[in-house]
Amino acid sequence: MTPTPGLQGDNVALTSDPRHSGSGVGASPSDFLLSLRGISKSFGAVQAMTNVDLDIPEGQVTALIGDNGAGKSTLIKAISGIWAPSSGTMYWRGNEVHIHTPRAASELGIATVYQDLALCDNLDIVQNMFLGMEDTKFGLLDEITMELATVQTLKDLAVSTVKSVRQRVESLSGGQRQAVAVARAVMRESKLVILDEPTAALGVSQTAQVLALIKRLASRGISVLVISHNLSDVFAVADRIAVMYLGSIVSSGPIANYDTTSAVEIITTGASHHAASSASIK
Ligand SMILES: Nc1ncnc2c1ncn2[C@@H]1O[C@H](COP(=O)(O)OP(=O)(O)OP(=O)(O)O)[C@@H](O)[C@H]1O
Ligand SMILES: [Mg+2]
Repeated sequence: MTPTPGLQGDNVALTSDPRHSGSGVGASPSDFLLSLRGISKSFGAVQAMTNVDLDIPEGQVTALIGDNGAGKSTLIKAISGIWAPSSGTMYWRGNEVHIHTPRAASELGIATVYQDLALCDNLDIVQNMFLGMEDTKFGLLDEITMELATVQTLKDLAVSTVKSVRQRVESLSGGQRQAVAVARAVMRESKLVILDEPTAALGVSQTAQVLALIKRLASRGISVLVISHNLSDVFAVADRIAVMYLGSIVSSGPIANYDTTSAVEIITTGASHHAASSASIK
C-alpha cells in the first residue's frame, strides 16, 4: 500500500466526527521511527490483521490496547520479524523496510520482550544478558567485562532490587525477570523496545517498578510499544494509545485524547459514542 502523506497518522477510523482526527494532519512515515501502512496478516482462513496503520514516534511510549484476540500479539510479531505480513508496508524513519526475520528486526534496533521473556532459567543474569550476542561486539569480552556491563546497565535503569548479577534467573521474582529482559533489550542499543503484557503477572510494587522502567527508557530517547490490558498502567505511562479491534487499529492518538471510559468503549465496541459528550476525545 502506498503511504499517503497528509492522510495518515492519528485517527479514529470509525467516525467522521472531525474531533476524532487527532493530530495526524501532515503526518508521514518520515516523521516517525516506525510506520505501518495497510498491514494485513491471515493464517489460512483466519484474518488476524486487516489494513493496520500505526505510527510510532521516537522517544515516546505507545500503548497498544484491545480485547483478547484483537490481533495485538500478531501485530508485534509482524514488527519483530516472527512472520511476514500478508500485505502492507513498513517504514523505518521513512524508509521502506522488510522485517522478515527476528535478526532483521534486531539489526534495525527493535527488541521485543515477549510475555514468556525468553530468558534461560538455568543461566545467571549476566549469561542471560549476553545470550545470542556472541557474534557482536561483546563476543570477545571476558566474564568480568560482561559482569560490569550488566551491573552498569541495571544501575542505569535504576534496577536496585537484584541482589547479585550471578544469581540464576529462576531465582528472580516476576518483576526482576521483566527488568532483566528489558535491560537485555537496552544493552543491545535498541531504538524500539516492544513489551507484550509486561505487568500481567506482577504485584503492585513490581508493576510500579516496571512502569518506572518504561518511563526511563522513553526518557533515554527509546521508543516503547507496550501491550497492556491494564488501563491504569496505560494511563500511567503512555504518551499515545492505539486501539485494536477485530484485527484493525480503530483509534489512535495522544493519551490526552482519551479517558478510561472512552478507551473501554473503543476496546469493546470499536468506536466511542462517549466522545460526543466528553472533551477528552478530540
Ligand atoms: N499462529 C496462528 N494461527 C492461526 N490463528 C492465529 C495465530 N496466531 C493468532 N491467531 C489468531 O489471530 C487472532 C488474533 O490473535 P492475537 O494473539 O494477535 O490476539 P491478541 O490481541 O494478542 O489477544 P490477547 O489479548 O488474548 O493476547 C485470534 O483470532 C487468533 O486466534
Ligand atoms: Mg496477545
